[in-house]
Amino acid sequence: MLKWLTQIGGWVDHRLGLGAFLVPMLEHPIPRGAAGPMGWWYVFGSASMTLLAIQILTGIGLSLVYVPAPDQAFESLEYLNYEQPMGWFLRALHYYAGSAMVVMVLVHMTQVFLHGSYKYPRELTWVVGVFLLLCTLGMFFSGQILRWDPDAYWGLAVAGSMAGRVPVAGPWIVQLLHGGAVIGGSSLSRFFALHVFIIPGALMSLLVVHLWLVLRCGVSAPPNAQQPVDPRTYDADYHTELHRTGVPFFGDAVVKDACFSALVVIVVVALAAIMGPKGPSELPDPTLGGANPRPEWPFLWLFALLSMSPPAAETFIILVLPVLLIGLLLLVPFISNRGQRAPSQRPVAVLIVVISYTVLGVLTYEGYSAPWSPAMNAWSGDPVPVSMVKQSSPLQLQGSLVFQNKNCRNCHALAGVGGRRGPDLSTIGTRLTRDQLIDQISNGTPGGGNMPAYGQQMGPHEMTAVVDFLVSLRPAGQPPARVATVDPPQ
Ligand code: HEC
Repeated sequence: MLKWLTQIGGWVDHRLGLGAFLVPMLEHPIPRGAAGPMGWWYVFGSASMTLLAIQILTGIGLSLVYVPAPDQAFESLEYLNYEQPMGWFLRALHYYAGSAMVVMVLVHMTQVFLHGSYKYPRELTWVVGVFLLLCTLGMFFSGQILRWDPDAYWGLAVAGSMAGRVPVAGPWIVQLLHGGAVIGGSSLSRFFALHVFIIPGALMSLLVVHLWLVLRCGVSAPPNAQQPVDPRTYDADYHTELHRTGVPFFGDAVVKDACFSALVVIVVVALAAIMGPKGPSELPDPTLGGANPRPEWPFLWLFALLSMSPPAAETFIILVLPVLLIGLLLLVPFISNRGQRAPSQRPVAVLIVVISYTVLGVLTYEGYSAPWSPAMNAWSGDPVPVSMVKQSSPLQLQGSLVFQNKNCRNCHALAGVGGRRGPDLSTIGTRLTRDQLIDQISNGTPGGGNMPAYGQQMGPHEMTAVVDFLVSLRPAGQPPARVATVDPPQ
């Protein structure tokens, strides 16, 4: 039996030549230092890959049941949570392994940064790594949307209103992202495609390049204050040293990688088992302003930053800051690609790490309590203009409160201030009759979409009040709208 298998294996390998390709990869020498006790610093990259493998496996499992349609996504997740055997565990594992992957990629980058391993000749490895981080974050964001609960819905709304600020191309990007003018089925399809095809495809391709670069440039030796990097002599020195004292990768180094990865898997499995799956909390409902949505934890820092800064700075924080940060990350190996690698000789690098993580930590903590919402609820806090309620009856005043509380202002401006999704309602009293108003508010845009239906959200009294208020919205002296009647021809 064994003989047979060896023969088949030999036959395949003779044609494929994979052995000739893989064996040198496993046996390739690495600096002795990287296999010793310092080798524990080198385990984070492989742990990120282990987590990626979990994500692929659990992801395939989830995709067998999940339905990417707005009316069934929620249900299919509930099915996974409560009916499918172990479905809840699959979801929980996918969530916690995904979270751990973000953490691990960050830890890996931090280690590479602190040890100056991005310096000559590994600049490109770093640059590809930054794109891998972006892919990982992209996976996290698009995955959260697939949950299709209020957080997902508002995540999309936020992303849309952020992208909408891009000069010139803004509306086009929003259209591309949402798959139409409004958030709905096509938005979910787009994010499903992003999450299972586009981003994973990019991620896997980049990963291949990243690994190729690691093999080609060799694993860096642990930093040594006596050996600053000099691009003119580095390669020769590295290879002489490797030939003299190098050890095969498939040895101590692999054992360390495996041990650490195993530990990470145990932690993630335990977390998933104890904490259970995340959401879906409830069906999204755009008419509920109080949903208190929050982005997933990797984006909370940005959310907090936005909630704390004055509205005038929002566009800068949304558009310029991320580009600036990513640009800075990409430039790291070009700003300093030679000289000292040892952290003890690079106080500025250490300081950058400490400050960055402190700021991120504090902002993330704040993010859990921050009330920011991008120009969505923003106008609900604005009072109805005084001129519009100066002569109002008590019922109309009440109606203006309903208008306020139901967040109508987020889509409708009054006197030019407010959302732009629906028409400005400052003079609506001259355009629609009482009955037309009741119809519009109860039923919204027929077929769902632009304006939600409020019929189920409002008592009859609230409806009467808000309609009375809207009817009163007309320039002084103008009569309310009437149904047009045509005089019969004489
Ligand atoms: C999610 C955004 C949104 C919200 C929230 C919203 N509307 Fe609308 N509304 C629209 C849009 C878009 C239109 C344009 C017509 C359509 O698509 O049905 C509209 C149309 C209207 C119209 C008719 C305007 C005209 O000129 O014909 C009235 C009246 C109206 N809305 C009242 C309200 C009231 C009252 C509330 C709060 C209870 C509200 N809307 C909440 C989006 C919204």
